[in-house]
Amino acid sequence: MPELKETRGFQYLENSRFDRTSIQNLQRPAIARVETFKRYSPITSIPLPRTWSLDEERITLLLQNRRSLRKYSKEPLNLEHLAFMLWASQGITGQAGNYFFRATPSAGALYPVETYLSAHSIEGLAAGLYHFDVEHFALDRLTDQDKAEEVAQACLNQKFISQAAVVFLWTGVFRRAMSKYGDRGMRYILLDAGQICQSVMIAAEAVACGGCPVGAFYDSELNQLLQIDGEEESILYAASVGRKLEPGIDHRP
Ligand SMILES: Cc1cc2nc3c(=O)[nH]c(=O)nc-3n(C[C@H](O)[C@H](O)[C@H](O)COP(=O)(O)O)c2cc1C
Repeated sequence: MPELKETRGFQYLENSRFDRTSIQNLQRPAIARVETFKRYSPITSIPLPRTWSLDEERITLLLQNRRSLRKYSKEPLNLEHLAFMLWASQGITGQAGNYFFRATPSAGALYPVETYLSAHSIEGLAAGLYHFDVEHFALDRLTDQDKAEEVAQACLNQKFISQAAVVFLWTGVFRRAMSKYGDRGMRYILLDAGQICQSVMIAAEAVACGGCPVGAFYDSELNQLLQIDGEEESILYAASVGRKLEPGIDHRP
């Protein structure tokens, strides 16, 4: 393993830094654009319910009580609760002209992150892999085979992941951000993914669930499961989510 400054990670960070001089000569990258929404066709499309109330004022408690949760109740998750988590993270919440804004911010409103689900135990939803269709607030079914074990294995065999009701899998469609921002766009993609995950964690807390962010995985194995190429689109981040064993738990010191 090389010393810090010789690592590709550090060099990437350095090469994508803005400074007052280099920013003057910044040019638009010669990277072709791609569409904002990923559309599957033909595919089974499952409409999602919008039945939650928006009158919650518990944000302090939600933030205080969020903890990475790695033990879950065996009870299946409600589809309504899953839909709430999807809306809270990537749901469309506004429009200005042709721009659709979402619940979680995104650099340049380019939304380079796609959401997939490995559903294991959701009431009213067959186990399998799904893609979140942001545009129509629906799930595209990719397979109805339960992939919970395979997902956990791809996540460095972390057992708790196979016991979660659902695993969120977030990918980056690099051209969406990099065709505008070049190297620096890679940072924005990673930052977007982090914010999306936190939104899911807080939304989970609001519905007596909990989750654990997961950054440890074999990239190519998850890419293969999702049937994405790892170049134009690649896995960035994941999170397991399930119902709490003790819903009333309060972590205040
Ligand atoms: C980028 C990132 C990657 C993570 N990856 C994993 C993981 O692969 N496995 C795991 O058990 N926890 C993972 N975690 C959870 C952290 O261990 C956890 O957030 C940390 O211990 C702080 O605890 P808290 O989330 O309960 O506050 C990850 C967290 C982040 C932010």
